[in-house]
Amino acid sequence: MLPPGAEPLRVLHISDLHLTPGRHRLMSFVRSLSSLAPDLVVNTGDSIASPEAISPLLDSLGPLLDLPGVFVYGSNDLYSPKPKNPARYLWRTSAGDHDRDEPDLPWEKLGGELAAAGWIDLNNRRDKLTAGGLDIALAGVNDPHCERDRYDLVAGPADASAALRLGVLHSPEPAIMDRFAADGYDLLLAGHTHGGQLRVPGYGALVTNCGIDRGRVSGLSMHPEISPAGGNTAWLYVSAGLGTSPWAPVRFACRPEATLLTLTPRSA
Ligand SMILES: [Fe+2]
Repeated sequence: MLPPGAEPLRVLHISDLHLTPGRHRLMSFVRSLSSLAPDLVVNTGDSIASPEAISPLLDSLGPLLDLPGVFVYGSNDLYSPKPKNPARYLWRTSAGDHDRDEPDLPWEKLGGELAAAGWIDLNNRRDKLTAGGLDIALAGVNDPHCERDRYDLVAGPADASAALRLGVLHSPEPAIMDRFAADGYDLLLAGHTHGGQLRVPGYGALVTNCGIDRGRVSGLSMHPEISPAGGNTAWLYVSAGLGTSPWAPVRFACRPEATLLTLTPRSA
């Protein structure tokens, strides 16, 4: 998807750490990811699950914070987790879980620390950066799952002169991804689904906990799936994520993941 002749771009996509202090294996795994030498790091949210997790998160990211990076929030960066039955996703989504008035997690401190370290805050914002020698146009929204997305603030044609146009959001909601694609974004990165979290071997995810269909609950696909006449179609990668809610610490047939995407040039 890069211009002909461009060097490949290595994008490390992390999501859904739901970090709490004491998750030492997860923290050391995240710390090890810098050995992949990505050109760009994209964090699609749900980074923390406790007010005490910001410092361990920064520690875990470590050298990744020295690289070009961008982030958005997931609802769980704003609202602390509540006890829940992990199987309840089978009959309802968690969208109404965040109807409380005010966020109770220190999301501003989280974003402030990541921004102070040099990563770009894409919550309802557009920006640009250079990574791997390429100019990248960026746009993102705050989490649609808790209705904090404001696409109108980033709407408009993506910079056609950039080598790559990247859209970032936590929950892969089709209506918002339609708008990113229509504005010319080439690649959309999202998380949130945990790959279905509880999967049936041979069948896959039972539910996605958001508007995307089960077939695209994780991994690479196109959005929209059917190209609109004269319209743009974007690549979509949905990460199955690295963690689970502390109150639903179960994944079944659904391995956690961090993803290294290598973007390559189009043929001339
Ligand atoms: Fe999550």
